[in-house]
Amino acid sequence: MLKKKIEDICNRQIEREGFSSNLYLAMAVWAETNGFSGVAAWLYSQADEERLHLLKFIKYLNERGGKAVIPAFKKPEAEYKSVEDVFKEVLRHEEFVTASINEMVALTLEEKDFNTHNFLQWFVMEQVEEEASVKNILDKVRLVGKTNMYEFDRDVLGLRKPSGTAQAT
Ligand SMILES: [Fe+2]
Ligand SMILES: [Fe+2]
Repeated sequence: MLKKKIEDICNRQIEREGFSSNLYLAMAVWAETNGFSGVAAWLYSQADEERLHLLKFIKYLNERGGKAVIPAFKKPEAEYKSVEDVFKEVLRHEEFVTASINEMVALTLEEKDFNTHNFLQWFVMEQVEEEASVKNILDKVRLVGKTNMYEFDRDVLGLRKPSGTAQAT
């Protein structure tokens, strides 16, 4: 049986992963309606991935004798000043999620829950990748984006598989 504290923090993470998915969908809508189809494709894909993260937590909780709670989600911001502004927000949000995962890892050690500790290691590595890929795009938008947004957008399109094909890894 999962301890209540662990169940609660996993449910908190379900809300955060679900919100991440909705946030990236809102950003994708902004990008698509502002002519940045490459950026939109990247964000739709990102939203799919976050939904898979949400599902991983749901399945884990249910399998371990806990119960996943599907919450209401806060309405994500729909307006952005620029593509750079969008990716700055993505990075800020991913840093928040990383801190959240780290807090969970610390709690599993405190509570000596080594199964959940082990389960979370996938997310620890995933966050390293997430932050690195967003930083890479931010560097690109600062370099290329200033003079050629078309080229930047096309480059971003090449970074991801199209939405709907994200795989749970
Ligand atoms: Fe995530
Ligand atoms: Fe993420």
